[in-house]
Amino acid sequence: MRPLDLTARPRRNRHSAGIRALVRETVLTPDDLLLPVFLHDDADDVPLTSMPGTTRWSIPGLVAEVGRAAALGIRGVVLFPKVEEADKSADGAEAANPDGLVPRAIAAIKDAHPDVLVVTDVALDPYSSAGHDGIVGPDGRVLNDETVEVLVRQALTHARAGADVVAPSDMMDGRVGAIRAGLDGEGFTTTSIMAYTAKYASAFYGPFRGALDSAPKDGDKKGYQMDPGNAREALREYHLDVAEGADAVMVKPAGPYLDVIRRIAEVSTLPVAAYQVSGEYLMLKAASAAGWLDEREVILETLTGIKRAGADVILTYFATQAAEWLTSGRG
Ligand code: PBG
Repeated sequence: MRPLDLTARPRRNRHSAGIRALVRETVLTPDDLLLPVFLHDDADDVPLTSMPGTTRWSIPGLVAEVGRAAALGIRGVVLFPKVEEADKSADGAEAANPDGLVPRAIAAIKDAHPDVLVVTDVALDPYSSAGHDGIVGPDGRVLNDETVEVLVRQALTHARAGADVVAPSDMMDGRVGAIRAGLDGEGFTTTSIMAYTAKYASAFYGPFRGALDSAPKDGDKKGYQMDPGNAREALREYHLDVAEGADAVMVKPAGPYLDVIRRIAEVSTLPVAAYQVSGEYLMLKAASAAGWLDEREVILETLTGIKRAGADVILTYFATQAAEWLTSGRG
């Protein structure tokens, strides 16, 4: 038949693997990924049944896992501790214990793998007997300024142990500026702050709280984490975090909030991170395990989508697996 009279045939740019690779706009690499890891003060490495494919590591097990991830090109890990019930309290004081689990883990990782970036979570939930990210006041609300004081001590404890990046995930007002001042006051001018800038009050965190036994005992986190209906407010948080001295800003969760990633990325002069959280992980895991989705394809597609939306850095429990796939080549 006679060809249609078309000047533009977009399919020409999809004609072969070669041309597709040549014109691809968003290319995921292991450099984009950070691996969140769970740890506890125990000699055993415990596979988590609530999050199949993840493990709660002992410190030695974690050091070995970091080595495996680094060998595949992962640049950094984000530490999430499960704290013994006996070490939890109303004010979360254990968060600033220099001999606590996190400082010991930071030191062990930096000792074995000095080039791997160690990112720490700054928030009180693992240490709080109430399971909240801050100190609960008499009326049941989380106190802002009192909490920020503890967060500064927690961040300093992490910096002294050797953390490269502290990542406040609590959503208190003014914590980025207070942490920056605290770090600088002790000479930690090269310790970075990756702020959880737009962290939503999300049901997708459920499996994570199960993994760390850190769910709130009463109520929810809606008094400090953002309302899922709000996007403009994310820009307000962005501008505050920039003014307070953040080095990178984060949107969390990632998949259901791609529009927020995009809106921040459009204005941001800072690197933008996004966190593919536990619930997003489990949806993909469960559907793949049931044979309903092709695991490798959907994982790489979601991560590419998050990067395409504007994320420069992606925190994902799939980091090591994705790095392995990415370095073994694909068409
Ligand atoms: C708490 C924290 C949470 C996550 C990371 N840091 C849970 C929460 O805010 O309740 C969630 C991560 C995930 O679901 O993968 N500071």
